[in-house]
Amino acid sequence: MTPPAPKAHRARSSRAGDGSRNYRVAVIPGDGVGKEVTPVALEVLRAVAASGGFRFVSEEFPWGSDYHARHGEMMPADALDTLSSVDAILLGAVGSPELADHVPVWGLVLPIRQRFDQYVNLRPMRLLAGAATPLAGRSAEDVDMVCVRENSEGEYCGIGRRVDRGEDTETAEETSVFSRRGIERVARFAFELAASRPRRKLASATKSNALRHSMVLWDEVVAEVAAEYSQVEVTRYHVDALAARMVNHPETLDTIVASNLFGDILTDLGAAITGSLGLAPSGNLNPERQHPSMFEPIHGSAPDIAGRGIANPIGTIWAGAMMLEHLGETAAHDRIVAAIESVVAAGRVRTPDLGGDATTKELAAAIGEAL
Ligand code: NAD
Ligand code: IPM
Ligand code: MN
Repeated sequence: MTPPAPKAHRARSSRAGDGSRNYRVAVIPGDGVGKEVTPVALEVLRAVAASGGFRFVSEEFPWGSDYHARHGEMMPADALDTLSSVDAILLGAVGSPELADHVPVWGLVLPIRQRFDQYVNLRPMRLLAGAATPLAGRSAEDVDMVCVRENSEGEYCGIGRRVDRGEDTETAEETSVFSRRGIERVARFAFELAASRPRRKLASATKSNALRHSMVLWDEVVAEVAAEYSQVEVTRYHVDALAARMVNHPETLDTIVASNLFGDILTDLGAAITGSLGLAPSGNLNPERQHPSMFEPIHGSAPDIAGRGIANPIGTIWAGAMMLEHLGETAAHDRIVAAIESVVAAGRVRTPDLGGDATTKELAAAIGEAL
């Protein structure tokens, strides 16, 4: 696991430290389509800042697989210290056909999430009017879910080993670590969110039938936190059945709380249900604001389409809007989301994943115009 954060770090608030509305944002475009969607998302954010009365100072860091080819690491040794003083981080994606997939992930994404204790990964899964869901007979009213994914431990804690390499006896172990504190804090965030949404429903993704240690603790702690939220209707679903329910009865689901791996899988499914992986945003949040939070689309570097200028930028633009909301610029968030909604509803400018032939830049420009 990554080293603990240093004791001295800048206190964070919804406004930059001096009360002004100047925000310092670290931008890491990364690899593949990350380099295509991040610059156009930044343009949208700048446009909204210019007319919204706040300033947005971004510093770009060329970290990723190209950096790895030159330096043997995904980012410099002091990268996390550098990032610790910014107000927020905007990430594209990392991953390259030149590297084993775990190298970029463990060299950049997971160290940032873990070091800055971004223990909530917030992932809206909302079908926008005009987007084509693969679910027959479903429309925007039926699909409005949000996943609160545990983002600091669980299946992604990184503990394990591989022994007897190349032998018949070769074995790999990957240990999941679930702590009472880790489950409790993500569950509390999820209950608070569920309580704030009109339907006040929370689905807890478990697998306590097969995972008799970790997921039994998960269920117990979720039930304990539930006792403090009598206004929220909580239901426990085994994650396999929950995946099927997302497809068959999405209208019965609202807030979902899930472990790191379960939340990862359910949210790609959720993105697919809402029309494309390219639409879905996420916020890696440190809710206490002791460290910067990081915002990114949920998709990866998409090597199969990278370099063609056709990636859907909406997931990144929407993630940028979530970043502004986190920084306290709620009106700017709402404006960007409304612009995304109006462009998707109009359906004139669509990237290939949405069934059109527009480019990344054209779709982003349409959102900029709609602002
Ligand atoms: P992926 O999300 O990159 O791609 C899956 C499919 O979705 C592909 O067919 C791709 O073309 C499509 N897609 C993804 N984003 C799109 C967009 N914006 N517009 C249109 N279509 C889009 O997932 P993968 O193929 O499993 O992973 C590729 C690499 O990305 C791997 O190295 C993986 O580890 C990495 N990855 C990184 C992150 C991250 O940095 N946060 C997230 C996920 C995957
Ligand atoms: C995501 C990605 C990451 C995850 C990978 C790159 C580690 O798939 O953000 O969903 O599993 O969290
Ligand atoms: Mn994922």
